[in-house]
Amino acid sequence: MAAPDKLLAPVLSEFWDEADSWTLGVYRAHGGYRGLGKALAMAPDDVIAYVKDSGLRGRGGAGFPTGMKWQFIPQGDDKPHYLVVNADESEPGTCKDIPLLYANPHSLIEGIAIACHAIRSSHAFIYLRGEVVPVLRRLHAAVAEAYEAGYLGKDALGPGKDLTLTVHAGAGAYICGEETALLDSLEGRRGQPRLRPPFPAVAGLYACPTVVNNVESIASVPAIIDRGKEWFRSMGSEKSPGFTLYSLSGHVANPGQYEAPLGVTLRELLDLSGGIRPGHRLKFWTPGGSSTPMLTDEHLDMPLDYEGCMAAGSMLGTKALQVFDETTCVVRAVTRWTEFYAHESCGKCTPCREGTYWLVQLLRDIEAGKGLLSDIDKIADIADNINGKSFCALGDGAAACIASSLTHFREEYERHITQRGCPFDPARSTVWADSHHTQTQEVNA
Ligand SMILES: Cc1cc2nc3c(=O)[nH]c(=O)nc-3n(C[C@H](O)[C@H](O)[C@H](O)COP(=O)(O)O)c2cc1C
Ligand code: SF4
Repeated sequence: MAAPDKLLAPVLSEFWDEADSWTLGVYRAHGGYRGLGKALAMAPDDVIAYVKDSGLRGRGGAGFPTGMKWQFIPQGDDKPHYLVVNADESEPGTCKDIPLLYANPHSLIEGIAIACHAIRSSHAFIYLRGEVVPVLRRLHAAVAEAYEAGYLGKDALGPGKDLTLTVHAGAGAYICGEETALLDSLEGRRGQPRLRPPFPAVAGLYACPTVVNNVESIASVPAIIDRGKEWFRSMGSEKSPGFTLYSLSGHVANPGQYEAPLGVTLRELLDLSGGIRPGHRLKFWTPGGSSTPMLTDEHLDMPLDYEGCMAAGSMLGTKALQVFDETTCVVRAVTRWTEFYAHESCGKCTPCREGTYWLVQLLRDIEAGKGLLSDIDKIADIADNINGKSFCALGDGAAACIASSLTHFREEYERHITQRGCPFDPARSTVWADSHHTQTQEVNA
């Protein structure tokens, strides 16, 4: 294992623990807005090429190359171009953008100004998860500071090049993090995904060319421009370069944000953070939130980058490392996640709307010891009919924990059924007369 100081790469989180870290003064004292000055001295297309060459990949889950996304915006089309920053962050386990905005909002505002210069946009939006009112207030204060200092507003991007930044608070729906549902919501409609094509780069917000990027993606840009693409590429791997925020939560001694080069392993992060809580051992974990297939202690040395996670049958997602020890019932965890997906399903397509509903019914029965062994194949079949057959990726995310938990812990589902209750909670192992199944069930003493 590398020395701890070699493992971490604090860039966005570098001064989070400093007094008033969220203010313009502290941000500037750490080199803030230097990247913007350098970017404004470059032609917009050169900024796009630079970000593309840096290899920065979107931090919102899919890992799409950021510079390439910017390049898709048509030029000379006489239409307004928009940048929309996705700060909805509502997936279970995912918790990096909210702390980043709370502690260091100017990194995002500077990144927005650079991105708007690159894609020739004069109006950007931040779509923030509505429940986080303290973050909303802090963001408003930071935006006001940036206007006051001339980083936003009239001539912000050069003579005759104004920049408006609108902060919009959503109303608390996970589906509004899906980029096209977000655009509908921002336009004042019910947040439901749009049919693609056309893609947002061609017809996004108000049917105009639009880039939708995650908070962390945009906030990473100023450091890349300021310190150089070679510096950025000196971290991580060829295909997954740079630094990123890993959010460690759950049964760990010291949960929190760990900013490190891509490719660090969970074992290294656990060593750094004091390990699993004392007296316990790792049972399962997600590399990037509840929509990424779960892994086990077999995968402790897997590089936490896009390729490493995919090779192990999962995804890097949002790098939300949710850690569960041996006291956790997998069936219970999967049931809670599935209840979330069923609640958040927008209802637009049948596989997800119906599938998540029925998964919840079956999982609740299995968890309570009322299930049948044949229900296990049934949930696998329903998940298979959601995955890849739904209108948007929320469906795929809902299916992920079912399929992966069955791969690694099928026997635990079986025990719930054969023992008529949760093996982790003896008090709940009892006779259930109100099962939706009609056959007699016996208590397994
Ligand atoms: C149900 C659902 C929720 C999502 N929530 C978020 C979110 O909160 N934040 C985010 O950046 N991306 C979210 N995404 C991914 C976005 O659709 C989109 O890919 C992302 O904002 C692109 O930014 P990036 O290229 O910078 O990663 C979500 C996707 C789905 C399907
Ligand atoms: S998969 Fe279908 S029902 Fe589920 S959230 Fe997406 S569009 Fe809505």
